[in-house]
Amino acid sequence: MAAMSKTLILCLPLVAKALISPPETAGLLSYGLGTLPLPYNLIDSQTESQTGGEGAGSFWSSSFLHGSDDHDYLVISNVIAANSFGLGNSTLYRASILDITDPSQYSQFSVISDKPDVFSDDGNFNATFAEYGFASTPPINGVPGMRTWSNASGAKFDVSFELSSPVLLNGGLGYFPGSDSTVYEWSLPAGKTTGWLQVNGSKVRVDSTRSRTWYDRQWTGFPPTWTWFALHIESGIPGVTDIPMSIWTWKDAASNLAGVATIRDAPGINRVVPLASLQPSNRTYTSNATTAVYPLDWVLRLADGTNLTISSTREDQELFVQDGALPFPAYEGYVTATGTYKGCRKVTGYGVVEVVPPREM
Ligand SMILES: *[C@@H]1O[C@H](CO)[C@@H](O)[C@H](O)[C@H]1NC(C)=O
Ligand SMILES: *[C@@H]1O[C@H](CO)[C@@H](O)[C@H](O)[C@H]1NC(C)=O
Ligand SMILES: *[C@@H]1O[C@H](CO)[C@@H](O)[C@H](O)[C@H]1NC(C)=O
Ligand SMILES: *[C@@H]1O[C@H](CO)[C@@H](O)[C@H](O)[C@H]1NC(C)=O
Ligand SMILES: *[C@@H]1O[C@H](CO)[C@@H](O)[C@H](O)[C@H]1NC(C)=O
Ligand SMILES: *[C@@H]1O[C@H](CO)[C@@H](O)[C@H](O)[C@H]1NC(C)=O
Ligand SMILES: *[C@@H]1O[C@H](CO)[C@@H](O)[C@H](O)[C@H]1NC(C)=O
Repeated sequence: MAAMSKTLILCLPLVAKALISPPETAGLLSYGLGTLPLPYNLIDSQTESQTGGEGAGSFWSSSFLHGSDDHDYLVISNVIAANSFGLGNSTLYRASILDITDPSQYSQFSVISDKPDVFSDDGNFNATFAEYGFASTPPINGVPGMRTWSNASGAKFDVSFELSSPVLLNGGLGYFPGSDSTVYEWSLPAGKTTGWLQVNGSKVRVDSTRSRTWYDRQWTGFPPTWTWFALHIESGIPGVTDIPMSIWTWKDAASNLAGVATIRDAPGINRVVPLASLQPSNRTYTSNATTAVYPLDWVLRLADGTNLTISSTREDQELFVQDGALPFPAYEGYVTATGTYKGCRKVTGYGVVEVVPPREM
């Protein structure tokens, strides 16, 4: 009897609720995560001394925000440091705003700046430009934070978040082999977030109790071209935190499908799961700006019986440099997901798909 009721509980359908769950506040290295033999210090990986030498990599945030106008928003902000990911001797910064509640409202920009440095004199991350910034901020009550803001016409916002949520360590310990060099990556799935964004000329305040930021720090290696999913999957159990998933997929000379899914089953537990298959749909978006063709739906199956049908809710979510020699495009799309978790429980969720087409683009 006991075993049976346990199965029933595990397989309970999802209870409907607001899209964006509250942020997580237990701390980056809570739940014993600090005892793991990580190859780097998470906070030091945000400084010049740790990663400044040969390309400091990517600083990326996706903020899911509930606004004072009762709409939900996705704000993406990303800095790619000079000499990282094939970028050359300049810095890329880009951002977008999507109104999730009214997806007809979307805008984006990408800029390649000659300013190569993303660190302050003290070595801390501080990529500040005339119209955009992304920087580490001093800890408050011991919790380190970050701020990203933009006054560019493509997206105006000022968002601060705390590194307050139990870390998702990609590959289990925060690294995995890419196609030719190690990818170092850790993810903060649901940091506490405050600030505002501008929508159609008006300022919208962020409701910090119903908003959260997934921050992603990645450096050194990268696959040649990839489709990456950063998903917030509902646990399906009231009071139990969401299940974040970071799922890397790519093709290389050796195989048609390679990658690694890291699932934070519970805070502190980073489980690595092989991919079983990834099928893109025939529904695609072709970018006028870059001619890149992006799938808009996928069926993703993992080796543990988890399967997800993932869809972009808006076709055009491509970020690209408008007047550059190279547009350096990336599709940073808001997606929803429905499916089955570990072959048993029906789940739904949402998140971001990042598609980086081949380098010549
Ligand atoms: C990159 O730009 C910086 C600053 O303009 C310069 O000091 C450096 O020599 C350049 N490096 C290369 C490889 O061109
Ligand atoms: C980052 O640099 C800018 C400009 O150099 C400076 O105004 C700002 O205070 C710095 N931010 C932090 C958090 O150090
Ligand atoms: C922000 O950009 C607007 C133009 O879009 C400009 O009028 C304004 O002065 C800028 N604000 C700041 C603080 O730079
Ligand atoms: C944007 O603002 C304009 C002018 O205030 C208004 O006419 C229009 O309906 C607004 N658009 C949306 C989608 O709210
Ligand atoms: C996708 O297109 C191929 C070739 O045109 C076709 O055979 C297949 O049935 C299509 N799949 C779906 C799901 O529409
Ligand atoms: C792409 O170009 C076509 C033809 O110029 C145009 O009709 C269409 O609106 C453009 N689409 C976008 C998303 O800009
Ligand atoms: C997902 O997994 C469930 C349970 O194993 C199965 O019933 C369902 O057909 C699968 N769906 C897809 C799209 O693979």
